[in-house]
Amino acid sequence: MVADLKELAKDNRVVLVHGGGVEVTETATKLGKEQRFIVSPEGFRSRYTDKETIEIYTMVMAGKINKQIVLALQSQGVPAVGLSGLDGLLLKAERKKRLIAVDERGRKKVIDGGYTGKINEVNAGLLQFLLQKGYVPVVTPIAVSEEFEPLNVDGDRTAAIIAGALKADRLILLTDVQGLVLKGKPVTKISATEVKEVLGSIGHGMSTKVHAALEALNQGVSEVLITSGTGANPVSSALKHKSGTVISRE
Ligand SMILES: Nc1ncnc2c1ncn2[C@@H]1O[C@H](COP(=O)(O)OP(=O)(O)O)[C@@H](O)[C@H]1O
Ligand SMILES: [Mg+2]
Repeated sequence: MVADLKELAKDNRVVLVHGGGVEVTETATKLGKEQRFIVSPEGFRSRYTDKETIEIYTMVMAGKINKQIVLALQSQGVPAVGLSGLDGLLLKAERKKRLIAVDERGRKKVIDGGYTGKINEVNAGLLQFLLQKGYVPVVTPIAVSEEFEPLNVDGDRTAAIIAGALKADRLILLTDVQGLVLKGKPVTKISATEVKEVLGSIGHGMSTKVHAALEALNQGVSEVLITSGTGANPVSSALKHKSGTVISRE
């Protein structure tokens, strides 16, 4: 993975956005802070993020995971710079006041939004500055609110918004499966229009990625790839359309 990124970064401008939700949950549990997850009416699953949770989230994501990735890249000679959305006000977001949570029986409940947000501004200039100097920015999906609080934002959507703001050619969403599966079959290529029609049949996790893909395509990104992050050369193989799912604008 790192070797693959190193090759790619030689003649492409690369920005990396990482996740880490599972590790946040593990650490929170160790600290005695049980994590709660909610599902929205649109089918998005998200962490209920109260004050203590955003602190743990920031610690694990911007502290531990971001620095691990930066070190792994540096050790292979990739000049990585770790940033959260708080640094240089990279990601500004509007704090969600309320969330609608749907329980297993389909009943809706309105709850406080906690420390979650929707990104409304990317400091693209900061990323461009780093990219021009040859750095690979490694971004933690934490945004800053109007009141200068940290907010939990979704990693896939953060990547999509950054790709849009940078007018990137491609967005690659790495995951733990080969790509999108529809009716039991792996999809190698699908257009935005086609995928919109089947959005309802896609489960949690993948549906977030498809929504993010559509957002990026809408912002002018020409192609989105969803592929497995494991394996030898996940990124270059997906770029050559040898693996994963390609979602195209038309
Ligand atoms: N139609 C689908 N095609 C592929 N994966 C799907 C689909 N519906 C649900 N999934 C699930 O989405 C998961 C990927 O999302 P997620 O668990 O959030 O992983 P990540 O850590 O990569 O964000 C897959 O492991 C798979 O179980
Ligand atoms: Mg996910």
